[in-house]
Amino acid sequence: MIQRVLEPESMETTDDVEEYDAMDHSEVNGRFVDDFLSVHGAARGGEILDVGTGTARIPIALALADFQARIMALDLSEAMLEAAALNVAKAGLSRRVRCYQGDAKSLADQFGERAFEGVISNTIMHHIPDPEPVLATMARLVAPRGTLFVRDLARPGSRSEIDRLVMTYAGRETPEARALFAASLGAALTLEEIQSLVKRIGLPASDVVMTSDRHWTWVWRNRP
Ligand SMILES: C[S@@+](CC[C@H](N)C(=O)[O-])C[C@H]1O[C@@H](n2cnc3c(N)ncnc32)[C@H](O)[C@@H]1O
Repeated sequence: MIQRVLEPESMETTDDVEEYDAMDHSEVNGRFVDDFLSVHGAARGGEILDVGTGTARIPIALALADFQARIMALDLSEAMLEAAALNVAKAGLSRRVRCYQGDAKSLADQFGERAFEGVISNTIMHHIPDPEPVLATMARLVAPRGTLFVRDLARPGSRSEIDRLVMTYAGRETPEARALFAASLGAALTLEEIQSLVKRIGLPASDVVMTSDRHWTWVWRNRP
């Protein structure tokens, strides 16, 4: 077992943003949107909050897949949000995807309980030193019959497994992008860590499962 080594929380520099947005995430983003809609319901519309949206690639894919959805794309980083707003405008979706600067650690100060039909998040928990209160608040923001859908990298058990995943999924990327991916894997929670965290929140740990060789996914439906 290797220890969790945190990355800087917010991705602030223009280099971070350009490096991140230049990587090809289209396959994982497409799978995220398909998997979310398969549990949430396709073409259901409503207000969705994307926590740690980055350059808003997932909100854009979601808005194109569900023509009724309105998405609040939230990120801590001003630089990420500038790139996000540009991507959203280029996609012609500025009316349905709103970019919003906010901190995942203070969502309760920013939004009312049960404010969103869907609360989603992809690969941000490994940036957050203490994800438990963040995830507990995200669950409280989900409206009755709504969906919480959180996915992140899972920290592998060994350095050699990190190297294998980096070569498999980022072997063709730049050395900087490979280093970023390796650092993200090392900063992630293991499946067991996220399951015990969900249990401490008071929700079923069995709702968190491995959904690829490098991701866990937590799906929770707020059934009244
Ligand atoms: C690896 S990127 C993932 C971006 C996006 N979800 C995606 O899948 O492409 C992580 C993002 O989380 C953001 N982030 C980190 N800590 C945050 C916080 N406390 N509140 C909001 N966003 C945060 C970073 O600025 C960065 O844009």
